[in-house]
Amino acid sequence: MERFSVLFFLLLFTSACVQKAKADGILSTYYYQELCPIAEEIIRQHVETEVYQDPNVAAQLLRLHFHDCFVMGCDASILLDDFEGIESEKNAGPNLNSLRGFEVIDRMKYALEIACPGIVSCADIIAIAARDAVVSRGGPSWEVFLGRKDSLKASFYEANKRIPAPNSTLEILIANFEDHGLEIVDLVSLSGAHTIGRSRCTSFKQRLYNPQPFEEVWDVRQHEYFQLLRSICPEEGHDNDLVPLDIKTPRRFDNLYYVNLLRGHSLLTSDSQLVTEDTVEYIVSNLVWQYAFDQRLFFEHFVNSMIKMGNIGVLTVEGEVRHNCRYIN
Ligand code: HEM
Repeated sequence: MERFSVLFFLLLFTSACVQKAKADGILSTYYYQELCPIAEEIIRQHVETEVYQDPNVAAQLLRLHFHDCFVMGCDASILLDDFEGIESEKNAGPNLNSLRGFEVIDRMKYALEIACPGIVSCADIIAIAARDAVVSRGGPSWEVFLGRKDSLKASFYEANKRIPAPNSTLEILIANFEDHGLEIVDLVSLSGAHTIGRSRCTSFKQRLYNPQPFEEVWDVRQHEYFQLLRSICPEEGHDNDLVPLDIKTPRRFDNLYYVNLLRGHSLLTSDSQLVTEDTVEYIVSNLVWQYAFDQRLFFEHFVNSMIKMGNIGVLTVEGEVRHNCRYIN
């Protein structure tokens, strides 16, 4: 009898939390508990299968969440195609011929619309898929806060303006993240997403043939690394050839990205900026050293920062749940 009362109280409490979350317009980890209890399981199974078939999908899904959240917030605006007044973000500089995984999201949405029509937003699908993608490569797991609505618009202009460029200086990166309500610790831990995935030669080629003044080649090891990169990415052509962001364990979500940085094996200028020697900069490189030595700390900070990023500009009252992630209803 006593056990029954505790259970009943717990149910009541959970339901109250869900109601409160809905009323407040804030996200909640219980959001689909009543509305569509199998939502997360459907997404998890899709990610598992898709990553099994093509391990590159994990990095694509993770990056999709970042590029969604940094443009008008995590509202699935990134998924909208060009259509009737919508100028798709997919064609903006940082995304064109680079951002992938859209068909994977389509397939998840299709399955979710069969299971729970009109309930699970595309923005939530991206957020859950990003978490499951990290887990699929050996990274940490976390509870995803849910209840985002999908936007009714996209912004090609903001996609060009708000997503940081790979040749950004540290100052620019810090300012960009601050604009999104993120701190230095978020910049450093989220950059650790580059422990998986690949970059096209075009995104870093200028470093190899025309280094900026702030990018001195420091030592023999970096020199050798750059030689290797030059052999993959010659000065002319091969712009779309792909190179792993983490040269050591490109398909494993671990802390070797930071170890690479300390060895001078950073692929993008933006990565290399985390170990420059001047010093706000001290805070930044100090975090890099800590993550390089302590994967648990990296995972802990990464999870906190992903949750923070997943909260940027979310729509909980305005917006809709799209039936097809590529078009507004
Ligand atoms: C700090 C500023 C950042 C810059 C300047 C940046 C830039 C880039 C660039 C240029 C690429 C390669 C794109 C290409 O050449 O096709 C890339 C790949 C990637 N980025 Fe970032 N990024 C940043 C932060 C982040 C964050 C915060 C995340 C996620 C939390 C992330 C996740 C990824 C992933 C997973 C890939 C590999 C994608 C794939 O293999 O398809 N990046 N990034």
